[in-house]
Amino acid sequence: MTALPPGVVTLDDHAAHARTVLDANAWAYFAGGAADEIALAANRSAWNAMRLHPRVLRPLAGGHTRVSLLGRSLAHPILLAPVAFQRMAHPDGELASAVAAAAQQAGFVLSTQASQPLESIAEAVRDDPDRGPLWFQLYLQHDRGFNRELVHRAEHAGYEALVLTVDAPCHGARDRERRANFRLPAGISAVNLAGLPPRPASALQPGQSALFDDLLRDAPGWDDVAWLQANTRLPVILKGILHPDDARQAASLQAGGVIVSNHGGRTLDSAPPTAEALPRIADALAGALPLLVDGGIRRGTDILKAMALGANAVLVGKPYVFGLANAGALGVAHVLRLLRDELEIAMALCGCATLDDLPAGLLGAGQP
Ligand code: FNR
Ligand code: LAC
Repeated sequence: MTALPPGVVTLDDHAAHARTVLDANAWAYFAGGAADEIALAANRSAWNAMRLHPRVLRPLAGGHTRVSLLGRSLAHPILLAPVAFQRMAHPDGELASAVAAAAQQAGFVLSTQASQPLESIAEAVRDDPDRGPLWFQLYLQHDRGFNRELVHRAEHAGYEALVLTVDAPCHGARDRERRANFRLPAGISAVNLAGLPPRPASALQPGQSALFDDLLRDAPGWDDVAWLQANTRLPVILKGILHPDDARQAASLQAGGVIVSNHGGRTLDSAPPTAEALPRIADALAGALPLLVDGGIRRGTDILKAMALGANAVLVGKPYVFGLANAGALGVAHVLRLLRDELEIAMALCGCATLDDLPAGLLGAGQP
């Protein structure tokens, strides 16, 4: 097995090392954000700008990071976010990430655009009694029959929830990828979408938009969320919510949960950082649905901040793919171990024995 590179002791160290391992094509894809990368940078700076106000001399013995989520008790609140095409980071791909997640008792969300079959991933981890949640991220396709079949495959394989990504009806303006002339390497593809019938092209009239009049012709809407719920026995979690009214609509549809996300800054540039959006969504939901957040979470202190703002769990994306690039499954497990250890340290130093009973004012006066 690949060894961990020496001197890598933080998630940022993993990123810096991955840059030396990945080629320019893969680096542009995995590390880049949309356009000027304002949202990408703001995700980080928003967590960094928040202060933790520690309490002292509180009882800490017997503390733990356990949380409950969708009816399950989890060892800690960390999940691996869906990231496409992981064989571009390491030949072991999504399989290595899922196995590492299970070994670290973390949740794993497999992307629709995974580069390995969804069944092999589920099979590798499904029966591990200590693993975290196993969810399938869904991009609805233009063909309802294909969607139904994909959902049934995920159910049958043992995925426990569907994560419907709603913030990417089209790609963002990926300037970094265009500069690098990004191409998927030969032999890497979205294998779980094999067999998708080709999308009939629209004959565009002069003056029509290739985006609105063709590509977005069958972009999913709220009706499709209801359709999906009617066509699966799994909870449907909406990923990519940033507006309180959308969170309320998710609650009114009895969604399985909401993930506050701006897709790691890869879709709409200038979207708000998730640390800013999260408290507004938490207010709107008032505990009605499980609430998760991702984007720029790189430290245990970031996780504690997210929990103090009302999240029930967090996801990380880029950092674990960099761990994967650096050392395969071992690298992913290392990233998770670092986050778990840092979370425990942050809790202890803030006087928090558990995550479900955080002291008031942890984020300062007037904050939750
Ligand atoms: C993503 N993300 C993503 N989301 C999704 O719903 N389906 C997908 O296939 C992908 N693919 C993907 C590829 C790459 C290279 C990245 C970096 C991200 C978004 C991902 O799930 C998550 O929202 C962000 O990555 C979280 O931000 P951080 O942790 O990367 O800052
Ligand atoms: C991305 C898509 C796959 O962010 O979600 O690249």
